[in-house]
Amino acid sequence: MAEFTLPKNSKIKKGQSFSEAGGASNKKTFRIYRWDPDSGENPRVDSYEINLDKCGPMVLDALIYIKNDIDPSLTFRRSCREGICGSCSMNIGGTNTLACTKGISEYKSDIAIYPLPHMQVKKDLVPDMSHFYAQYASIKPWIQTQTPPPPDSERLQSKPDREKIDGLYECILCACCSTSCPSYWWNSDRYLGPAILLQAYRWIIDSRDENTGERLDELEDPYRLYRCHTIMNCTNTCPKGLNPAKSIAEIKKLLISRTV
Ligand code: SF4
Ligand code: SF4
Ligand code: FES
Repeated sequence: MAEFTLPKNSKIKKGQSFSEAGGASNKKTFRIYRWDPDSGENPRVDSYEINLDKCGPMVLDALIYIKNDIDPSLTFRRSCREGICGSCSMNIGGTNTLACTKGISEYKSDIAIYPLPHMQVKKDLVPDMSHFYAQYASIKPWIQTQTPPPPDSERLQSKPDREKIDGLYECILCACCSTSCPSYWWNSDRYLGPAILLQAYRWIIDSRDENTGERLDELEDPYRLYRCHTIMNCTNTCPKGLNPAKSIAEIKKLLISRTV
């Protein structure tokens, strides 16, 4: 019989509460998932009440403030703090998004912060991205050619051809979309997921690439591509406003057009 409860050592326990806001009027509580693999303990949710006048306006500012001033053990990834590197992706208030571009004021009450869903957790808010990156490498995300390049110039592209990769090249591989996709939750061992399929389409549609047929062959598979059931969570959650579901639909159209 199927068991739908979490194993004992995965159950989330109530954690510690920290309050440094005192009588401040401008304060907010952050409830943050914590798990340290070295402790041998269950995951827990710690609660931090902070004075918002002491930190910047974004959720990432609050995390940095908590780490610097309240609890140095809190672990999370970040780098650019401007929505470019993709490393601060996490689940904030029930939605996958970037901590650095999400304003604290967008949340009316307490803010719950968890790692990206359905990923192995390395520590606290840091998911293990190894499988996701291996899937990215599998689509060969670089230009592949058979013909030699022009002797005295780069491989050029017309303006309309260049415009075809608008809405694709902006992807920062944050994985918010893939980890919001139910098909990816259950089949990420074989399904590439929306982020990697958007990236695959970015190279398929690039006029300079000469391996389009092989790229499509690689994707023509009931799992790698066709596990997408157009649920649209991916497009709804993308913090860069991209549309991975459309890229997946375009790949499917190209595959169909090869057969007619
Ligand atoms: S498509 Fe959007 S959500 Fe998905 S990885 Fe790229 S930037 Fe992130
Ligand atoms: S549209 Fe496809 S890729 Fe996007 S969430 Fe739905 S099943 Fe996943
Ligand atoms: S820190 Fe780079 S995207 Fe948020």
